[in-house]
Amino acid sequence: MRLAERMSRLGTETAFDVLVKARALEAQGKEIIHLEVGEPDFPTPPNIIDAGIRAMRDGKTKYTPSAGIPELRAAIAEHVSRTRNVSITPNHVVVTPGAKPIMFFAILALVEPGDEVLYPNPGFPIYESMVNYCGGTPVPYTLREANQFRFDPDEFRSKANAKTKMIILNSPQNPTGGVLEPADLQVVAQVANQYDAVIFTDEIYGEVLYDGAFNSLLSVPTLADRTILLDGFSKTFAMTGWRLGWGVMPPPLAEHITRLQTNSNSCVAGFVQYAGIEALRGPQDSVKQMLAAFRERRDVIVDGLNATPGFTCLKPRGAFYAFPNITGTGWDSRKLADYILNDAGVACLSGAAFGDAGEGYLRFSYANSLENIQKALVRIRDAVAKIHA
Ligand SMILES: Cc1ncc(COP(=O)(O)O)c(C=O)c1O
Repeated sequence: MRLAERMSRLGTETAFDVLVKARALEAQGKEIIHLEVGEPDFPTPPNIIDAGIRAMRDGKTKYTPSAGIPELRAAIAEHVSRTRNVSITPNHVVVTPGAKPIMFFAILALVEPGDEVLYPNPGFPIYESMVNYCGGTPVPYTLREANQFRFDPDEFRSKANAKTKMIILNSPQNPTGGVLEPADLQVVAQVANQYDAVIFTDEIYGEVLYDGAFNSLLSVPTLADRTILLDGFSKTFAMTGWRLGWGVMPPPLAEHITRLQTNSNSCVAGFVQYAGIEALRGPQDSVKQMLAAFRERRDVIVDGLNATPGFTCLKPRGAFYAFPNITGTGWDSRKLADYILNDAGVACLSGAAFGDAGEGYLRFSYANSLENIQKALVRIRDAVAKIHA
């Protein structure tokens, strides 16, 4: 079968490839600690599960409107209005199976050959993949450790021009845990307004923030007509497998994104959407408990990595990833990630999987038990000690 040319431009997400490798080692009897995939290890809170089961029993098992059921769109509008201090209506909201389709649909709807799209490097690999797939030109801006993994304002400005169609931001950030400050939002606003660019703000980790206030690009008044927000249930409510996310955007764009959904998934399962209403409107204790656990694990893994020869690690302010600098080992990231998987039985990702600026780093997801994290740290230290022994 001859593939369409555009398939040669579609990338992938390495986390899933490493997971396959790790599972193959497990099948051979090796015990692997999984610090590669970014998903909370906690079960979905029981009140959310109950709401999903109840909805299924109540017959919510049929097609639903492509943009989402009105009750969930209203609950999301309320949640986003409250958390971002803005006034969002249900017409701004499109509900999708996981948050990823918002990325896919927004880029598909807006980017075409000749358009440039600014995106973070290191960053979530699907941004670059989708821009390439749609024939646009991905233009990376670098996030450096020396700047707490925030962008450099001068470099950021220098990357934009009249061809800049979209600017992608992600805060708290995967893979670095970096967080945008109010001054950064002002730089983005100035650049976007100057070049009439769309802002795509990926805030899937917006509630996984350990200190300080959350600064959302959606809250910047001058950006209201040009901003698309991606958010969802996967990380905040430990619902990765339910596949439930949302986008918030100006209503005229929401109609087009809804049409893309009609052409692809049709809609999200109704009972899953009812579970989503419970997640947003029900008790929030589980979210607080998960955040407290992530904070404790963050401190343990960062201290442990800093005590590993050749590693240095900043303390991330958000998300649940540690992104240590491993240049002191003398090895490149891919080689070291493979070695740690095969020798130590700890699955992690090479920083280079997030773009060339990720070379020299590894990404560890600490959405795993404290016990497993402590065990992984001992194994990593022992394995790394053998490198130059
Ligand atoms: C930065 C970022 N955006 C979006 C997503 C996608 O989330 P979902 O699983 O809801 O599609 C992820 C998941 O890993 C992510 O890390």
